[in-house]
Amino acid sequence: MSDTLPFAVLISGRGSNMLALAAATRDGRIDGRIVAVISDRADAAALVEAKRQGLATEVLPAGPETDRTAYGGELSRIVEQSGARLIALAGFMRILDSRFVAHWQGRLLNIHPSLLPSHRGLHTHRRVLAAGERFHGCTVHFVTEELDAGPGVIQGRLVVRPGDDERSLSARVQRLEHIIYPRAVGWFAAGRLVWRDGQAWFEGRPHRQEIVEEAE
Ligand code: GRF
Repeated sequence: MSDTLPFAVLISGRGSNMLALAAATRDGRIDGRIVAVISDRADAAALVEAKRQGLATEVLPAGPETDRTAYGGELSRIVEQSGARLIALAGFMRILDSRFVAHWQGRLLNIHPSLLPSHRGLHTHRRVLAAGERFHGCTVHFVTEELDAGPGVIQGRLVVRPGDDERSLSARVQRLEHIIYPRAVGWFAAGRLVWRDGQAWFEGRPHRQEIVEEAE
């Protein structure tokens, strides 16, 4: 147990990705263990379930006045104390400061609900529908200082159907998220995916992002 990867998951809301990661640590898809679930909101729904599963939880509240660098410093301290060697951002709604990102670079993953580099930022389902795009999905990527722009690790992709709305797209994208995020963290935990010289490497070669298609 002790040489499995200790990692932290940062959430702000529903936390379904955090729960998917937790499930994957239990069934062996991730050779790792969640040592801290950290939320910036005390009312994040998944905190209750995380506690019920015996996971250590921590709330680091932030308001509009909170200084970003001070917040990042405190967050780093909590993560270090937990012993985590990887941070998985999972719907964490705060932008992290550059010092935090530099410190954790290569050990910091995020999941974003679009096929990056398309649709960085918010309201991705709405924007995909408005643009009439054929494909949509989600991306796990290493976090670098530019928002939603770090090297991609794996994408889940679906074909937008006539009649899809934001709700249906959100549900379908989330199902893909719950597949790809555990896979990416599993690779990292197994030492197959590493960060070297500012890029992602997979089994000794520069990584080429994998694409998982939605099942019919
Ligand atoms: C996901 O759609 C993820 O892509 C985005 O925030 C959402 C978090 O959902 N970054 P959940 O809290 O994991 O359910």
